[in-house]
Amino acid sequence: MRKFKALILGAGYRGRAYAEYAEIHPDELEIVGVADPVQAKTIPAPRYWADWRECLAERPEADIVMVTMPDDLHFEPSMAALEAGYHLLLEKPISPTEAQCREIIAKALWKRRLVFVGHVLRFSPAFARVKALIDSGEMGEVVSINHQESAGYFKVAHSYVRGIFNNSAKSSPIILAKCSHDFDLFSWWLGGRKCLKVASFGSLKHFTAANRPKGAADRCANCPPSVEKNCVWSARKMYLESTDLHYLFADPSRRAMQKVVDESRFGRCVYCCDNDVPDHQAVLMEFEGGVTVSHVMTGFTNRNMRTTRISCTKGEMFYDGSELHVNLFSGDTAKTEVPEQLRGGNYSRHGGGDLNLVAAMLRTLERGDEREICEIDRMSLLSHVISFAAERSRLEGGVTVELTD
Ligand SMILES: NC(=O)c1ccc[n+]([C@@H]2O[C@H](COP(=O)([O-])OP(=O)(O)OC[C@H]3O[C@@H](n4cnc5c(N)ncnc54)[C@H](O)[C@@H]3O)[C@@H](O)[C@H]2O)c1
Repeated sequence: MRKFKALILGAGYRGRAYAEYAEIHPDELEIVGVADPVQAKTIPAPRYWADWRECLAERPEADIVMVTMPDDLHFEPSMAALEAGYHLLLEKPISPTEAQCREIIAKALWKRRLVFVGHVLRFSPAFARVKALIDSGEMGEVVSINHQESAGYFKVAHSYVRGIFNNSAKSSPIILAKCSHDFDLFSWWLGGRKCLKVASFGSLKHFTAANRPKGAADRCANCPPSVEKNCVWSARKMYLESTDLHYLFADPSRRAMQKVVDESRFGRCVYCCDNDVPDHQAVLMEFEGGVTVSHVMTGFTNRNMRTTRISCTKGEMFYDGSELHVNLFSGDTAKTEVPEQLRGGNYSRHGGGDLNLVAAMLRTLERGDEREICEIDRMSLLSHVISFAAERSRLEGGVTVELTD
């Protein structure tokens, strides 16, 4: 395997997750430079820049540019990197608008460059196993999929109420930001079949000023103890008493987390943030061949995980978040698969999906098959097109949106 060189634009949670691959496999990947105004040096590299523009302006020698900045900073750097001839590891969403997504993919196809979107779930062992079982033909044909994304009350409060993904005008609609992963799984499991129709409902039900407890302060640090003690969303509870969200921070020390609570956007009361994205949304889809899919995303769950039930003509599969149950109607091959590699509980690394994704990208580049590269580029658009259609449907009261191309 040849060694590839990469630049990282954005050294946050995702940049660090992919950089880990170079630490584990230094013979396959070298990070030759990192751009980030705040935390570039959290990733070891020989060169640093304070902004992605400064980095790309120098055209450093590298094969891959990893775009791991906030959603609204995907379009310009991706277009510039493709123009300069780099391949992209581009975090999802490709970009917040459909027109920009299409432009990036068109540019990649024109320049014959690979755009590997951060659809990490394909690379998590449980979902890859579902794909292998479908492709084996053992289950017959897929008839319907019933999928739930349990987004976890703490994760939704962190990212979609207090965090940078909380406002659809400033980042992306949540159905794109959070669920393009799931739509990618469906398209992939179904062998790239097109989605023909989409309808969606959902709203911001809970995290609004109307639900703010009487006497609550704007920041948790200033909230009266009598109010805060009954509030599960308290920033102190989430960042100081619990360590569940620490994997998202470069420095999870007690001092740093205290600062997060006292000074950052994550210390705000969940009932007075600038959030507008729904906290629950349901989507119904019809794919080619009459396959129906229902998808529910909700922030009101204890765990942050996905469950899925796939009904096929010869049997069904049910993934409950840690075990995959496979039952054939013939009755003689019911099995439950719980090997270590199927455990999806490691949500901080998507059950191994983050590192597997980098490995898959490097192997694709090594093969250098242009037809495969173009196919991957085109396929990555499918999930985004469904997301945009779902958001249009939701905003128009649940009308059915037909996808024509
Ligand atoms: N694939 C997944 O499962 C997954 C999970 C979470 C986030 N994401 C996506 O990954 C992207 C990054 O999210 P994150 O959670 O890592 O955010 P983050 O806030 O942790 O990191 C973003 C980084 O970009 C840096 N940045 C901002 N402006 C910059 C500039 N001009 N030049 C260089 N760097 C700049 C910030 O300083 C920050 O360190 C987003 O698009 C998000 O939607 C994907």
